[in-house]
Amino acid sequence: MGLGHSDFMAMFDQWAPTYDATVFQAEPADGFERYQEVLARVAELAGAAPGRTVLDVGTGTGNLAQVLADRGATVLAVEPSAAMRQEARQKLGDAVPVLEGQFLDLPVPAGGVDAVVSSYAFHHLTDDAKVQGAKEMLRVLRPGGVVVLGDIAWADEAARQAMIRRFKAAGKPDLVQEIEEEYYPTIGLLTSIFASLGCSVYVEQWTDWVWVIAARKR
Ligand SMILES: C[S@@+](CC[C@H](N)C(=O)[O-])C[C@H]1O[C@@H](n2cnc3c(N)ncnc32)[C@H](O)[C@@H]1O
Repeated sequence: MGLGHSDFMAMFDQWAPTYDATVFQAEPADGFERYQEVLARVAELAGAAPGRTVLDVGTGTGNLAQVLADRGATVLAVEPSAAMRQEARQKLGDAVPVLEGQFLDLPVPAGGVDAVVSSYAFHHLTDDAKVQGAKEMLRVLRPGGVVVLGDIAWADEAARQAMIRRFKAAGKPDLVQEIEEEYYPTIGLLTSIFASLGCSVYVEQWTDWVWVIAARKR
């Protein structure tokens, strides 16, 4: 059973002050393995560069937004957790607006950005909501623009079950619980959502359970 929205937000508000320690000191095989490489690859596939506007959804403490800004892009960041927004504003300063919002209701006009990116956040939506979230990201994207997600996903259901067995055998019940409670999708589901919305889709696998997916709007 998954957590409700307010439970999720309380969890992220509480996590915000220590979040960076979690992700920058990730252990091998945990979900944040290769975190900084994944952020860099998302920014690269988004074409983050001077003259391009990139929206980071679920920015958290702003680490991906920082990578995008360092590449010279004009960056907008959206985040539902107040405590995460506070951390992001401290990190990013005035150059990057950090707006309250979420995947299903982005505070950005239609066709307003060249790329929409998100890291380790899209999986928080239920599978039905993922379809709505994909539609909303495509709404704010200009034609020819790209959505790039770096996130936890499974090659297929067998890969999910294999990971559960592996973490049980390794005595890691927290990770087993995480897999069972979160809405981590298969890469097939993510691909089919964006393909069904008319996008051309490209995927890369970065770890046993982290993928980067780029969906280009026609
Ligand atoms: C694991 S953190 C990832 C933060 C950051 N993108 C990163 O790569 O470090 C997940 C973030 O997604 C946000 N989030 C949760 N539900 C969301 C939603 N429906 N729309 C947008 N962001 C959401 C959380 O508040 C949290 O900041």
